[in-house]
Amino acid sequence: MFPINRPRRLRQTPQLRRMVQETVLTANDLIYPLFAVPGQSVAKEVKSMPGVYQLSVDKIVEEAKEVYDLGIPAIILFGIPDTKDTDATGAWDHNGIVQQAATAVKEAVPELVVVADTCLCEYTNHGHCGYLEVGDLTGRVLNDPTLELLKKTAVSQAKAGADIIAPSGMMDGFVQSIREGLDEAGFQDTPILSYAAKYASAYYGPFRDAAESSPQFGDRRTYQMDPGNVREALKEVELDIAEGADMLMVKPALSYMDVIWRVKEMTDLPVAAYNVSGEYSMVKAAALNGWIDEKKVTLETLISFKRAGADLILTYHAKDAVRWLAEG
Ligand code: PBG
Ligand code: ZN
Repeated sequence: MFPINRPRRLRQTPQLRRMVQETVLTANDLIYPLFAVPGQSVAKEVKSMPGVYQLSVDKIVEEAKEVYDLGIPAIILFGIPDTKDTDATGAWDHNGIVQQAATAVKEAVPELVVVADTCLCEYTNHGHCGYLEVGDLTGRVLNDPTLELLKKTAVSQAKAGADIIAPSGMMDGFVQSIREGLDEAGFQDTPILSYAAKYASAYYGPFRDAAESSPQFGDRRTYQMDPGNVREALKEVELDIAEGADMLMVKPALSYMDVIWRVKEMTDLPVAAYNVSGEYSMVKAAALNGWIDEKKVTLETLISFKRAGADLILTYHAKDAVRWLAEG
């Protein structure tokens, strides 16, 4: 009558539980996003993202040191330029804000891996991720002219010291174009982390405050994916692998765990999950109200991404998570 199998036998003590834990979260898994703005000594908190700041380059360098000292191996840089225009000049300007930040960080903390987000939305005056026909108010981004701008952007980021190029605009052929551009410029060894399966998600809301990159009209549904699709995600991944991507990202993470899992099953390349701004802000808001235990919820969420198949996690919780992991 009594069960022979009693799984609870292995849950009796912390030591036993540690011995059989299948998934482990460490600082090595994390990438911390940073937002660079022009100026000196600027640290402006993003209203919808408590604990996240727009930082001037000098402050980015301080932050980079702290991140490195915590044992987090990488940051990803986003930039908010002084001026925006139709050609997204600030994205590929050799003296652009991300380029300045990358150079300064590599000088101060050479061992910290600097990932550059490669997109145009923070730099175009209309906020779309690519080039638009002049006078277009529908937001239908022109694919191939955008590729040329992305190629220039990636090369200028690599020249500035970026170690990894991460194109996020969901343009067709962006991995191949960027690979060509990097190779021609002598950056054959610079890896590409492709935002391969990126959905048109309302969870990006707070990020668009942080990066000041909301589209001024229309939306991103002609380039980002429909939340109902997963076969299409696998197609995107397959194309990016064929175009030479070194790592693949699924974004957002929390509502797309099945996509992370399916991507992991189809490739041996490292898979990254982007725990996006809206996911972060929901946890923060609930925690600030005292409705959830921020530490426990955050660590549970992050380990779940790993269990689902993510090798790397881009997260605004990175610094807190590492401190909490050390506390045990
Ligand atoms: C821009 C970009 C976005 C994010 C990363 N790169 C926003 C968007 O596509 O509108 C979202 C990150 C987040 O929400 O944390 N291409
Ligand atoms: Zn974009």
